[in-house]
Amino acid sequence: MQQAFRGSIFHCLADPGPHGEDSAVEHIEDGLLVTEAGVITSVGQAADLLPGLADDTPVQDYCGKLIVPGFIDCHVHYSQLDIIASYGEQLLDWLDRYAYPTEMRFADEAHARSVADFFLDDLLRNGTTTAAVFATVFPQSVDAIFAAAEDRGMRLIAGKVLMDEHCPEGLRDTPESAYADSKALMDKWHGKGRLGYAITPRFALTSSAAQLESAGRLAAEYPDTWVHTHLAENQEEIDEIAKQFPGYRSYLDVYDRFGLLRERSVFAHCLYLDDIDRKLMAEKGAAGAFCPTSNLFLGSGLFDLQSMVDAGIRVGLATDVGGGTSMSMLRTMSEAYKVLHLQGQSLPASRALFLATLGAARALDLDAAIGNFEPGKEADFIVLDAGASHITARRAASAQSLDELLFALIFLGDDRNIIATYVGGALSQYD
Ligand code: GUN
Ligand code: ZN
Repeated sequence: MQQAFRGSIFHCLADPGPHGEDSAVEHIEDGLLVTEAGVITSVGQAADLLPGLADDTPVQDYCGKLIVPGFIDCHVHYSQLDIIASYGEQLLDWLDRYAYPTEMRFADEAHARSVADFFLDDLLRNGTTTAAVFATVFPQSVDAIFAAAEDRGMRLIAGKVLMDEHCPEGLRDTPESAYADSKALMDKWHGKGRLGYAITPRFALTSSAAQLESAGRLAAEYPDTWVHTHLAENQEEIDEIAKQFPGYRSYLDVYDRFGLLRERSVFAHCLYLDDIDRKLMAEKGAAGAFCPTSNLFLGSGLFDLQSMVDAGIRVGLATDVGGGTSMSMLRTMSEAYKVLHLQGQSLPASRALFLATLGAARALDLDAAIGNFEPGKEADFIVLDAGASHITARRAASAQSLDELLFALIFLGDDRNIIATYVGGALSQYD
C-alpha cells in the first residue's frame, strides 16, 4: 500500500564532518516522504510529489514537525536494563557487582522475554528503530530478543554472549558450547526477515584462547554475520588483558590474531587505541561504537572521534545501556558533544544526527537498507515535535535556523518529543 508523510524532512547523505557541511544533508521544509510496502519510493517537495500520488493514498500530516530517519544504536545490552544507573564503580567492579548478577536471571526465558519486550518498546519510544544488542550467555535470551524484534518488525542484530572464564560460574559456557549454540542460533535467526546474528565474545578478558579460537572459526565460516565485542574501554581492563595475553602487541591484536577483526566487526568503546591499531582497524574494515554516556558514567575515558575518522574507521553512536545511562539517542548525542568538546573537537547537530543514523548504518554495514531516505531503503523514520515539551517549545520559538533547532532538540529533547516512530512504514504501538 502506498502511504505519504508530509512534514519538514531532514536526513544525511554523507558525513557532515566537524564543520557541518550543508552539502552532506538534505532539508526539505515542506517535504513529502512516500512509501510503498514498507519501502521508501520517493522523497521531495510536497508540492512536486502530491499531484502524482494515487487518489486513495493516505497523506499523514506532520506539517510543522520534523521527519528524520529512525535512530540506530550500535551497541547496547538489553539484559542490563534493570541495573541502569547503578552507583559507584568502574568497569571491572561494575561488572562483578551489577552486570553479572542481573544477567544470571536470563536463564529464565520468561524473564528474558518480558525484559526484551520492555526494552524494545523503550527503544521505539525513544525513536530507535535498529540496534546491535548483546543478549547474555544463555541461548534462550537470544531467542527472546529476536522474537520480540520480529514481532515489532524491527531490524536488529543480536547474539549470544561468549564467556568461559574470569566471570561467575553460573555465567560460563565452554569453547565447544559457544560454537554449537552460536551456530544453532545463527541457523535459526540470521537473515530471518530483518534480523542478523552477531558472534558476541564478551571481551578478551572473559574468553579463553580456546573460546576466542572457536569464535574466530565461526567468524571465518559465516562472513556475513557480525562480530560484536568490547575493545579498549578501561585502563585496568587493558592491563588485565596484557597479563592474560602476553606477547600480543595490543588488545586489538588479540582479536586480530583470533580472526575476529574483519568486515562487520563492531567494537564498542575504542578509547585506548594507538595509530597502529586504528590503521589496522581501518584496513580490516571494522567499525567503532562511540558510547559517550557509558564512558562518562563508568569513568572510562574520552572517545577520540577525530582520530578514528581520520584513520578511515566507520563510527556509529551507541548507548551501551546499562553502562550507559540513557536509552535516548538524543541524550547520547548531547553527551557525545560534551565528550568531544572536552577534547577541543566540535560536533555540529547535523553530524550528531549522522552518527545516530547514516553513520551508524554504515558502521553496522546496513546502509544499503537503512540510515537515510534514499528510495529503495526501508521506511524506518521518526517524527520530532519541538512543541511537545515546554522547554523545547520555548527554545524552538527563538531558533533562527534548522541547525539551531536541531541542536536544541538534541540537548533538551526526550521521548516526549518523539511523537511517532515508524518501522517498515508502520506506526509502532507501544504503551
Ligand atoms: N566489557 C565487558 N562487558 C561489558 C559490559 O557489559 N559493559 C561494558 N560497558 N563493558 C564491558
Ligand atoms: Zn557494552
